[in-house]
Amino acid sequence: MAQAVSLTRFLIEEQRAGRAPADLRLLLDVVARAAKTIGVKVSKGALAGMLGEAGTENVQGEAQKKLDVIANEILLQANEWGGHLAAMASEELENVHQIPCDHPRGDYLLLFDPLDGSSNIDINVTVGTIFSVLENPRRDHAPAEADFLQPGRKQVAAGYVTYGPSTQLVLTVGNGVHAFTLDRETGEFIHTHPFMTVPEDTREFAINASNARHWEKPVQRYITELQQGKDGPRGVDFNMRWVASMVADVHRVLTRGGIFLYPLDEKIRLQGGRLRLMYEANPMAMLIEQAGGAASTGRERILDLQPQKLHQRVPVILGSRNEVERVVAYHREG
Ligand code: F6P
Repeated sequence: MAQAVSLTRFLIEEQRAGRAPADLRLLLDVVARAAKTIGVKVSKGALAGMLGEAGTENVQGEAQKKLDVIANEILLQANEWGGHLAAMASEELENVHQIPCDHPRGDYLLLFDPLDGSSNIDINVTVGTIFSVLENPRRDHAPAEADFLQPGRKQVAAGYVTYGPSTQLVLTVGNGVHAFTLDRETGEFIHTHPFMTVPEDTREFAINASNARHWEKPVQRYITELQQGKDGPRGVDFNMRWVASMVADVHRVLTRGGIFLYPLDEKIRLQGGRLRLMYEANPMAMLIEQAGGAASTGRERILDLQPQKLHQRVPVILGSRNEVERVVAYHREG
């Protein structure tokens, strides 16, 4: 039987192949370790009093769950002392989190959504951690928000961890997408899904259809055609799935294809979209593109967007290339 390849070994081999500098490898190992700790807390659920509201709000004005706060703390603490990071930014924090001055400052910036899909925590449905790594553009000073505002194509690594029936870490360092499954007995992430690919075509879509009346015309047209199935212009039936945890929905797309949409709609027009560019859209777009899929706002490639602020929100349409291109074409036609 072939020897199982751990995440640590995979990253060392990426380093030897010149695709992951030592510091990037070490920082990804730390993120993976933190995710294991978060996974343990998530799996304890009600047994450890982990469910329910924290009684606080995050920077977006959303009520925080206890596990949002705990996961955020775990990631901050794990990554502060390694010497690989210049600073961090979290969906749960208003401002850049500086590395304390008693630890060395490294060359990378880490961004994360510590617990994505947290409305699912209390009903025991998959949630996850999403992360993105950028180079610190200016090494001579403590990073400011402006240093983080780089287009997604500049990410040097991106990934997520799903806390579901199994804990899986899905990662790209720019050489394809690889998934690692946590072996709970040994505590190792094992390379189980090398070079994941998103098929060009699909018959499955994911969208929160309760927003249908607020969508823009191109999205209404696209989804109506899918719903008409065999009887409509597409001539085939489509299936719909919506977990309401982006990690779980994107993981399904990466595993068996599909199109995921959280488009602009009238309810959220002023805020620019629902999902966050830096913590959700960019890392997921890098993974999907690395797997052969496409990711767009409907009007622009997500990875080309110039971020305006850390907590910016954008429309997200990603997954099987031919379907994403069709939605983009419908936007062009108006
Ligand atoms: O950004 C948070 C998030 O929970 C995503 O994980 C998910 O895709 C989306 O919001 C769910 O939105 P809704 O509550 O509209 O279904």
